[in-house]
Amino acid sequence: MKTNILLIVALLTIGLTNCTPKKQETAVQVQPWWKEAVIYQIYPRSFKDSDGDGVGDLKGIISELDYIKSLGVDAVWLNPIYTSPNADNGYDVSDYRGIQPEFGTMADFDQLLAEMHKRGIRLIMDMVVNHSSDEHEWFKQSRSSRTNPYRNYYHWWPAEKGTPPYRYSLFDEKGDAWQYDSLTNAYYLHYFADKQPDLNWENPKVRQEVYDIMKFWAEKGVDGFRLDAFQFVAKDTAFPKFPDGFEKNFMKYYAMQGNLHEYLKEMNREVLSKYNLMSVAEGAGNSFEDAHNLVDEDRQELNMAYAFDGVDIPKRTGYDLLHLKDVFSRWDSAFAQKGWISIFLANHDQARMVNRYATDAPQFREAAAKMLNTFILSMRGTPYCYYGDELGMTNIGFEKIEQYQDIASINGYKKVLNEGGDVAAYMADLKFGSRDNGRTPMQWNSSPQAGFTTGTPWLYVNPNYLEINVAKQDKDPDSVLNHFRQMTRLRKENPALIYGAYQLLQREHPQVYAYTRTHEGSRLLVLHNFSDREASISLPEAMSAKQILINNYSTNFPEGQEVRLKPYQSVIYKMK
Ligand code: GLC
Repeated sequence: MKTNILLIVALLTIGLTNCTPKKQETAVQVQPWWKEAVIYQIYPRSFKDSDGDGVGDLKGIISELDYIKSLGVDAVWLNPIYTSPNADNGYDVSDYRGIQPEFGTMADFDQLLAEMHKRGIRLIMDMVVNHSSDEHEWFKQSRSSRTNPYRNYYHWWPAEKGTPPYRYSLFDEKGDAWQYDSLTNAYYLHYFADKQPDLNWENPKVRQEVYDIMKFWAEKGVDGFRLDAFQFVAKDTAFPKFPDGFEKNFMKYYAMQGNLHEYLKEMNREVLSKYNLMSVAEGAGNSFEDAHNLVDEDRQELNMAYAFDGVDIPKRTGYDLLHLKDVFSRWDSAFAQKGWISIFLANHDQARMVNRYATDAPQFREAAAKMLNTFILSMRGTPYCYYGDELGMTNIGFEKIEQYQDIASINGYKKVLNEGGDVAAYMADLKFGSRDNGRTPMQWNSSPQAGFTTGTPWLYVNPNYLEINVAKQDKDPDSVLNHFRQMTRLRKENPALIYGAYQLLQREHPQVYAYTRTHEGSRLLVLHNFSDREASISLPEAMSAKQILINNYSTNFPEGQEVRLKPYQSVIYKMK
């Protein structure tokens, strides 16, 4: 098995170094690279600005590819870079074959991809096709008349039929997913903002358009796609009435409906399998069965999905570690025999992981960030690291609504006002959990604006950049950054961290999350103290300091059978 994997990795690496286009005439049976990969997520607006307009861009990313390589990651998932009016920072696409001018040109994109492949880094693009922008040509046509050939590209409800059955919108300030359009006296559907009309996947022409777009990027040589909000694409277009209050449990009515699996099979046949592309869906439905049905190899749909259970756990008021252990353990066991999962604690829709799962208190912040990185890189599944988390970047914690840029935060605020809700509680929730916390510019160095831009950044830079930045951490062997690099190396050197069976130990321990990973005669013991107090745990057998593979404290090397861990200490031992 090990030899096989090595051989396959070698073959794939050769393919990548030669930078061959991904197009393949015949399907080759290989061990998928994405199981062994660590994926680094870049929010392009916030990563690196090369031209001083305050917005990150492709040239900026190109200039930092050596840094990205130095992290030991294998692939980059880029949030959308297509032409967009930016109602939702690129998740409202007006041209799927164009590059957002703020980000650069297609020549920049081609250079980015070539430079990534030269370094053996793969590229995953974000495919946003549950909806387009209302400024997309398809929608302009669609709304122009009821008989326009594009009418059926979207969901319309003629007003003479009365008010459409209520549909909940995640981003709308009234919570209403139907928007009236007087031009044709009809309502259109938008599960997200009104500038994000939902595409009608029941229309085969829409599906063909999407596959053509995917082929366009595949022909360029991209290595995979993340399918945005994909679990929502299939809808019952008769639009039956849902029970009152359904919005409290809207996933049950929105996720994995109708023909979704048929569409995925078709997409797999038409695009994914032809180009050997990695695929990951945002959202995994409502049950393990749903999740399995997405990624079961025999069904030929997708490679991976990611579920929200793990990121839904932390609340402003705290969370229960036992619950976290249960969620991650349940997901692991549901995929122990078949399928594969994504492991992540953060992304562009979440606030910073250090604040959510631990603390940014100065005395604990570094240990906590290292612990959380050790966690995502020592679980079974493909780890996704969100830019800045390799440094332990923290929430900015805005106080005023004017400081926010995120449409979900701003429209949510308007909704609370409209409904006469508790504005103070809402603002406190935003301060802890707003997506903008996770979108502040990357902290490169101690120069103004953290070296992100020479201009005025589109979103405030976190003032702690003098403390937390790449340049400073690069020089410090004990930094969060260097611990991250050490951890990606360790994962590569220990197949047990990738493939090893996971076993939870001492579920009831209130502070320590402990587990083993076992694979082909090797067993690792992983301990994380998720609390800000010292913790003791009694181990299955005595451990010696010599067995420690990685430790986020340079001052405490726990030994013996009863070990004491410092606050947020995280240690991996080699048991055999
Ligand atoms: C997904 C994206 C999110 C976006 C939404 C609408 O959830 O991750 O950022 O706002 O879809 O496209």
